Amino acid sequence: MFKNLKKKNKTPSNHENNDLDIHNIPQHVAIIMDGNGRWAKQRKLPRIKGHYQGMQTVKSITKAASDMGLKYLTLYAFSTENWSRPENEVNYIMSLPVNFLKTFLPELIENNVKVETIGILENLPKSTLKAIEKAKTDTQNNTGMKLIFAINYGGRAEIVHSVRSLYEQLIAEGASSDHIDEKLISDHLFTHNYPDPDLLIRTSGEQRISNFLIWQVSYSEFIFNEKLWPDFDKEELTKCIKIYQSRQRRFGGL
Ligand code: FPP
Repeated sequence: MFKNLKKKNKTPSNHENNDLDIHNIPQHVAIIMDGNGRWAKQRKLPRIKGHYQGMQTVKSITKAASDMGLKYLTLYAFSTENWSRPENEVNYIMSLPVNFLKTFLPELIENNVKVETIGILENLPKSTLKAIEKAKTDTQNNTGMKLIFAINYGGRAEIVHSVRSLYEQLIAEGASSDHIDEKLISDHLFTHNYPDPDLLIRTSGEQRISNFLIWQVSYSEFIFNEKLWPDFDKEELTKCIKIYQSRQRRFGGL
């Protein structure tokens, strides 16, 4: 349907990037999108209105991140612990990928963005799964930024999954535990196709990792931004990247 749309190839320019150092753009940014509920509460609205507005921010930040030349943007959309929220809230969050796809797929294609996911998808409602699969299929040939949704994702569950799968591999190969090293564990994580995040942002002023990419953020820079996720915008993202660019990453060295 959208095959004839010309795909954009992003070559970040200084004009577009508000004086960011285009040679030091983080290639992978991961975001804990927090504060939807508080945003709604401040306006005396039901919590789901906050999630709806959060979805609009997902759209604008995807566009901004792609324009800035990021290669990977990972968004924490639903954690393995979020199932404990009230049923109507869980159902609403689960309906968001359907809405997102309906309203944003042409723009994703136009911007050459490829949709991928990490997490345990089998447990999601059928309609959610269908929307996610469609987004993945329709963007599979896109060569620009990878937009990775963490859905039904938990870092501990991911490590359990990884250890089980590498244990099975070792048994199948008749190999001993001496073969287990950091690379083998990384290769069995949901994120095995992606570099570790350079920058982790959490919005809403909370300063926790909440079971997000707990293996992968070992050397990431952390930025805790005060904005509630629905209020987070391109300007805030640019500020975060400027802060990232002012830091010196040493990876344990000097
Ligand atoms: C945390 O805020 C947010 C979530 C658990 C849901 C995040 C989901 C979105 C932003 C939409 C995702 C969109 C797509 C397309 C999948 P909170 O509810 O914990 O906020 P609070 O701490 O203020 O209560």
